[in-house]
Amino acid sequence: MRRILILWLCTASLSAFGERLSNPRTEERVGRLIRNMTLEEKIGQMTQRSGRGGVKAFREEIRLGRIGSILNEVDADSVNALQRIAVEESPNGIPLLIGRDVIHGFRTIFPIPLGLAATWNPALVEKGARIAAVEAASSGVHWTFAPMMDIARDPRWGRIAEGFGEDPYLAAVMSVAMIRGFQGDDLSGPASLAACAKHFAGYGAAEGGRDYNTVMMSENELRDVYLPPFRASVDAGCATFMAAFNELNGVPASGSSFLFRRILRDEWGFEGFVVSDWASITQMVPHGFAADHKQAAEKAIRAGIDMEMQTDSYVAHIRELLDEGRITMAMIDEAVANILRVKFAMGLFERPYTDASLFPPLLNAEHLESAKQAALQSAVLLKNNGVLPLSGNLKRLAVIGPLADAPHEQLGTWVFDGRAEDAVTPLAALRSRLPNGPHVDYVQTLAYSRDRDTRNFGRAVKAAKKSDAVLLFLGEEAILSGEAHCRADLNLPGAQDALVDAIRKTGRPVVLVILAGRPLTIGHLLDRVDAVLYAFHPGTMAGPALADLLFGTESPSGKLTVTFPKVVGQIPMYYNHKNTGRPPRAESWVHIDAIEVGVWQTSLGNESHYLDAGFLPEFPFGYGLSYTAFDYRNLKLSSGTIRHGDSLTVAADIRNTGSLAADEIVQLYIRDRVGDITRPVKELKGFRRIRLEPGETRTVRFTLKTEDLAFHNRKMEFVTEPGWFHVWIGPNSAEGLRGEFEIVQ
Ligand code: BGC
Repeated sequence: MRRILILWLCTASLSAFGERLSNPRTEERVGRLIRNMTLEEKIGQMTQRSGRGGVKAFREEIRLGRIGSILNEVDADSVNALQRIAVEESPNGIPLLIGRDVIHGFRTIFPIPLGLAATWNPALVEKGARIAAVEAASSGVHWTFAPMMDIARDPRWGRIAEGFGEDPYLAAVMSVAMIRGFQGDDLSGPASLAACAKHFAGYGAAEGGRDYNTVMMSENELRDVYLPPFRASVDAGCATFMAAFNELNGVPASGSSFLFRRILRDEWGFEGFVVSDWASITQMVPHGFAADHKQAAEKAIRAGIDMEMQTDSYVAHIRELLDEGRITMAMIDEAVANILRVKFAMGLFERPYTDASLFPPLLNAEHLESAKQAALQSAVLLKNNGVLPLSGNLKRLAVIGPLADAPHEQLGTWVFDGRAEDAVTPLAALRSRLPNGPHVDYVQTLAYSRDRDTRNFGRAVKAAKKSDAVLLFLGEEAILSGEAHCRADLNLPGAQDALVDAIRKTGRPVVLVILAGRPLTIGHLLDRVDAVLYAFHPGTMAGPALADLLFGTESPSGKLTVTFPKVVGQIPMYYNHKNTGRPPRAESWVHIDAIEVGVWQTSLGNESHYLDAGFLPEFPFGYGLSYTAFDYRNLKLSSGTIRHGDSLTVAADIRNTGSLAADEIVQLYIRDRVGDITRPVKELKGFRRIRLEPGETRTVRFTLKTEDLAFHNRKMEFVTEPGWFHVWIGPNSAEGLRGEFEIVQ
């Protein structure tokens, strides 16, 4: 047992990873099978049904070969029973593929993906996905609908929680790490899950951050900002793709042959299969892109959507569409081949059943320790006037707020299999950590994050007054982010702002710990508290991780992967924006209150800013403090000039100038000064998480190849143009040591 666990947890070896799904033997088996299949069975392979609400009804359909995949059935015994019908009784014995949203853990819940990204630790993200795969596979799951790699520049969008943030490079690295974790080094391994790159494409750019909404964007922006993680996923061998709900420039993704045939298959050579999103094919009717379900099915098949999730437009209409010559049998065979190829690659024909006894237990100590590490590394320290870490000499600690002891909420969005009873809350962890330490006085005060009832404020204030320090656990419940859970107001909901004020008045040191699924607008609270630790939704092990951070067993080391705006009106706000012809400057910005009455229009700088909110975010991308301090020195470039095809080494010395050992996330940015189309003011091109002892200095080196600097020009060619570049090594996107170099032909 132990041996198996170790084997399954070891990370994928580079050489084995990203192998092609297609090979002559598989294609031969796929072809032979398709020749034997009836049309009904082919349509069956293209059909996925939800097990929610009971799968018993499916037995007969499975027996007839009318269902190829089921989602939302996670009991190994009942999956095996259905699988036995498919394998032993259906006409060609084709095994079912069982899908599930295993997004940030199965039973052991890791931080939400936005929190995972804030670790800037792909190895840890890969390990988390491996653990999720082991746990899910033991329950009969073969396929996860993850990672979600949609770039999100709008924190109103609830699904920002589910992705890696606003940067294409970071999202690509994290997506590949997750895919490697889910799929392991061999897709046919018993603990491997097929991964699913979603949602293709542009879903995160929904207008106004309203889920499912319209997306209009240039092809350059699509290719340079939104597609890189998807491209990297294909190269990493990701087995499946999911179509997005949104329309992109007027065409719903589920009907877009531009996305699925031209880009995914022809340009990128994807060999796996594409699943629609939940009912996204029939939703082409309300989109106004198809007159009825029949036309929707036709458009989806033509676009290259191989499997229909949940709805039955394929079942109902494929035969008719074929008879009418609106689609061809070659299209159907191609879709079925794509699906079967993945089933073969997964070894389902050889090993269709799950033997749960071969797997390590769910929530075992190793899994919990990794979840704790991820929670530790994901929390971002946004302010600290020295109150943190808390001293071991405290006598009384007041723990206040609706999220101090809310096990369900700390798990975050998209948790189907994690359980509140497994979660260790901050309150529980603080109490067990401090049996002989300070007395912990807990007042929940508000029943949940949206609660407006201030009746218990008096008790909270009393506890705060008696304490040496107050820990305020505020933020958002899990349900306030995730699919369709968008918010127009990003302040703390309910009476939480008022609670901060009430506690502040006690004069006690206040540490604000925020648990949330997105960036919140907290700027107005910063001068009312002494420290802010932003924990996102940290998962099962939130409590032990936060207790370690608050008491300084470990220093916070997470950094933001999305820009935090000051106010909602600044959105969209992202670090890799364009410069404009009139970039804002601190010297010429005048606050709205300082403008003289009756002055000339042109006296206000005429630059790209808001009179009231300026032009800077509250916290920039890449930002995060530590209990120690790091000094960046001696930026060195291996050369000031490089030729096409060459590479450049960029290095800097990072020194821990404080008195604690801690991790630092060192970031590499570039700016292409002039382009065939204008280039962003900064672009992340590398990062490294390093650990430095007090006084230790490390030289961190990055290698930049000229192809790393390529972008799509007006002819949609992916090119690196000659010319001047700036390069920075720094602690975040707003600071750093700057150098420059030139690329010559
Ligand atoms: C979501 C997908 C998810 C699917 C299945 C949809 O509503 O958009 O991301 O995988 O449901 O649960």
